[in-house]
Amino acid sequence: MKLGILGCGNMGEAFLKSVLTENVFSSEEVLVCNKTQERNDALKTAYGVSTTLKAEDLRSCDVVLLGIKPQNLSEIQLHFTQKAIVISMLAGTPIDRIRSSVKGNAAFVRIMPNLGQFVGKGITGLFFDTQSEFSEEERQQVKEIIEAGGAMLEFSRESQIDALTSISGCGPAYFFFLGETLECLAQEMGFSEAEARVAVRQTFLGAARLLEQNETLSFREATQRVASKGGVTERALEVLKELGWEDILKKALLEADKKGRELGKEH
Ligand SMILES: NC(=O)c1ccc[n+]([C@@H]2O[C@H](COP(=O)([O-])OP(=O)(O)OC[C@H]3O[C@@H](n4cnc5c(N)ncnc54)[C@H](OP(=O)(O)O)[C@@H]3O)[C@@H](O)[C@H]2O)c1
Repeated sequence: MKLGILGCGNMGEAFLKSVLTENVFSSEEVLVCNKTQERNDALKTAYGVSTTLKAEDLRSCDVVLLGIKPQNLSEIQLHFTQKAIVISMLAGTPIDRIRSSVKGNAAFVRIMPNLGQFVGKGITGLFFDTQSEFSEEERQQVKEIIEAGGAMLEFSRESQIDALTSISGCGPAYFFFLGETLECLAQEMGFSEAEARVAVRQTFLGAARLLEQNETLSFREATQRVASKGGVTERALEVLKELGWEDILKKALLEADKKGRELGKEH
């Protein structure tokens, strides 16, 4: 079995790292293709994989993970003579668009992963194209690649992949952005950069660990553990709600969703 990764940037590398760590593939079984030699060299040094600048070299692979950006799809033309499973992680880009760049004997899968994949804590939405044929073994291979880096949700409709994008695909960035904002505000309140950083990072790590160790703990219950009645946290949350916290987030999700669809259509 040979795995090709076409576009091995942030997300492609997360998959590369997890499949090698979990021994789903050995480094000899992976061929990585990027646009620049510099990126290829960095991955070759870090993971010992083979690299190429020519997308057509991936035709010898059994599974090809598409990790380019939607904007770069029109640069790619692949034609498979022997059967290949093509797994696309391109936000907002329907399988029908992928089909116009990938021809021949290919079966298509769409996924929506997130950056947690890098540390074995990803969540990936998965959709097997209904016009492609997959053996049970091939379906398992795809799932094994995904589960090397975390959990998986399988969907029966492609539209669910789009819906998931603004929630969990983008999700880690909302979390980091909240951290950055808190860190800046802490500095405005007089803490040093180092103090602000450790205060926020440790807060987030502790909160994430609490969730991890209590699978049945809901977000509401977790919030209530901090926001005691009539207390300081409760007041902060009231202000967030009064200022339209939920509406702001909803608008952001809708706009992200719209942007994804535009990117998938435009190029
Ligand atoms: N980042 C996330 O958290 C996330 C989450 C969910 C889904 N996604 C999806 O994952 C995909 C990749 O996102 P990313 O954040 O990993 O992007 P990225 O870091 O910019 O990586 C894109 C990679 O594609 C390569 N590339 C671009 N054009 C190419 C071409 N014509 N031929 C070969 N390689 C090419 C680039 O190579 P060079 O560096 O050599 O130019 C780069 O390594 C996107 O479609 C995105 O929608 C990302």
